[in-house]
Amino acid sequence: MSTTPRIGDSISRTDGVLKVTGNAPYAAEHFPPGLLYGWIVSSGIAKGRIKSIDDSRARAIAGVVEIITHKNRPHMAFLDGSYGDDVAPPGSPFRPFHDDKIAYSLQPVALVVADTLENARDAAALLDVTYEAEEHNTDFGIALADKYEPKKTRDTFEKPKPRGNAKQAFADSPVQHHATYHSGNHHHNPMEMHGTTVEWNDGKIVVHDKTQGAQNVQAYLSGIFGFSKKDVRVMNPYVGGAFGSGLRPQYQVVLATMAAKLLERSVRVTMTRAQMWSHVHRPEAEQEVSLGADQNGQLQAIINKATTATSKFEDYMEVIVNWGLMNYKCENAEGEYTLASVDTYTPGDMRAPGAATGMNLFEIAVDELAYATNVDPLQLRLLNYSEKDAMHDKPFTSKALREAFAEGAEKFGWSRRTQAPGSMREGTDLIGWGVATGMWDAMFQKTAARATITADGKLEVASATADIGTGTYTVMTQVAGDVLGLPLADITAKLGDSDLPAAPVEGGSWAAASTGAAVELACKSLADELYKYAGKVEGKPLEGAKRDEIAFVDGFIVVRANPFKRVSIKDAVAASGKDKLEVEETAKPGILDMASQLQKSRNTHSAIFVEVKVDEELRIVRVTRVVCAVAAGRIINPKTARSQILGGVVMGIGMALHEETYTDHKLGRFMNHSLAEYHIPVNADIENIEVIFVDEPDAEVTPLGVKGLGEIGIVGTAAAVANAIYHATGTRVRSLPVTVDKLL
Ligand code: MOS
Repeated sequence: MSTTPRIGDSISRTDGVLKVTGNAPYAAEHFPPGLLYGWIVSSGIAKGRIKSIDDSRARAIAGVVEIITHKNRPHMAFLDGSYGDDVAPPGSPFRPFHDDKIAYSLQPVALVVADTLENARDAAALLDVTYEAEEHNTDFGIALADKYEPKKTRDTFEKPKPRGNAKQAFADSPVQHHATYHSGNHHHNPMEMHGTTVEWNDGKIVVHDKTQGAQNVQAYLSGIFGFSKKDVRVMNPYVGGAFGSGLRPQYQVVLATMAAKLLERSVRVTMTRAQMWSHVHRPEAEQEVSLGADQNGQLQAIINKATTATSKFEDYMEVIVNWGLMNYKCENAEGEYTLASVDTYTPGDMRAPGAATGMNLFEIAVDELAYATNVDPLQLRLLNYSEKDAMHDKPFTSKALREAFAEGAEKFGWSRRTQAPGSMREGTDLIGWGVATGMWDAMFQKTAARATITADGKLEVASATADIGTGTYTVMTQVAGDVLGLPLADITAKLGDSDLPAAPVEGGSWAAASTGAAVELACKSLADELYKYAGKVEGKPLEGAKRDEIAFVDGFIVVRANPFKRVSIKDAVAASGKDKLEVEETAKPGILDMASQLQKSRNTHSAIFVEVKVDEELRIVRVTRVVCAVAAGRIINPKTARSQILGGVVMGIGMALHEETYTDHKLGRFMNHSLAEYHIPVNADIENIEVIFVDEPDAEVTPLGVKGLGEIGIVGTAAAVANAIYHATGTRVRSLPVTVDKLL
């Protein structure tokens, strides 16, 4: 018998074997009978209209079934509103193949559908499209001249409340640091590209889609194509990474469904790797930071302003400047947000949206203040440490950042650091040690889960949430095991199916806390049922034992005080006279939670320490050591939790050193659209990363005390690397990534 998985156990991912053996089918790995293949033809211009499409050469290719464009597509919703989704920002969502207008480079203009992928691709190359181009602008620097404050924002956006008089206090500060920072466009590039297989079954469809939210896509497709929701089932049980790129439905799911509906056939459409740059991305950003302090480094004023890029059709705005304002004790502080629109697709959420940009850039400014006042950068952070959320003037449900600094510094050996840039070296390498703070939200979203136990004692827990590589299956399994005391082999977690109990998109680092809470509730209800039927088992072994006097251990319902008095779970199910017991519960913030939310802030924090070695002459940077100490409440699974932080830290190193999408403004196109040219860290770039979870009990933040870990790892990491580079070289780079050219 396998052991019971419990909360706190470092068990391996329950879907791990399926994944590494290639037995977990992704969206584009389903083969319904008669499957057709679609190839997306992308716009050659960045703005204007399609003048003509001549498909005669393309149609001559054997195997071509149809070529779909705005002219012959099936009926689809007309109004913008029908194309909204749970995550959409205000504006007019992009409507694929709606008309002849082109709003961004690589916008899909046609779908060639054929019997094989190769035939579809061949035909696509022969499609003759002509355009009438209009003048476009993809240059954020130019767009900045017309920056604006959007009238509407998403609910998750919050404008910062000013405190004190920041401008005056800055003017009066003996030490003033003022600088503008920049971060480039980033594209998500999960291993699995955006793909969809639509199975056509007599007017009903099963949509295998690469998405972070099956029900979000289900509602979206139903709205656009006029399907009744019950005729659209969206499935995403395995997702090969997403990082936010699958929060909103992507255009290939529309194209595949469109073709299936028009042809009444099953159809698959997958973006090419290059087309992954025709969709969502993290927006380019500029952040102007003013920090006023006294000679000792005590903050007196913070002014934090950000402008980010958005498209011409939607106002995507992320929380950039609030993090710095929340994190530091300072009586005078204010922040400001503006957008600048360019002719690209609408940017969107990418791992720690807003914080990855805003906190990383802010933490470089904080480092600059440390040198301006000649205070150790860690000491400066401790000197300005805020016990409460300084922007909202509220306590946190918990904040063990001080402990994270202490444990991280100890592990890293920070006390051996010398302050002067270039003062530490090893042969031809300059050594730099940098530190930064990370911060993210600890969110809890309404989520439902079902728990079913069958007569053979097998438990299934199910929710329409997703596992985008984060470990949701494993978390669900552990929470269920913890409540019902069943062995691992008897527990199955099910997710990634719009037919399952309602769940939001998996994002915002809320899935472990929210799905976990739902599974716990459902399993507790099921435990109540089992207890009830256990009382009916012959011989009544539990006689007299109240509900709170029993425990669920190794497949048995036992009396705590006398474990010999027990009933097996199988016998309890049998005593019900049914073949299974099933309950569904919804976890959501209650009245008390909501009152507490008004009074307290909920956040994760981290302290990141980085060592870089920079070749003195070649200026090549290696990140040789990272210690990331995270305060994220209760850790359900230290092993999968560590993996989340490792991934985030690697992405943070990429943000610091490698990652940027470059645009040819003449063509209005993202140019480095391949993994050969869009640089992300590879194994050779990653050396020693240590992850510490500091003890942070928090009974209030979410029902399980869990805060979430998917995003915090990237926040602060890029800053710590940039700060370490300054410490090594004395060259301050205010524009990420810090590429070699900027250091020469
Ligand atoms: Mo995350 S950017 O909410 O997938």
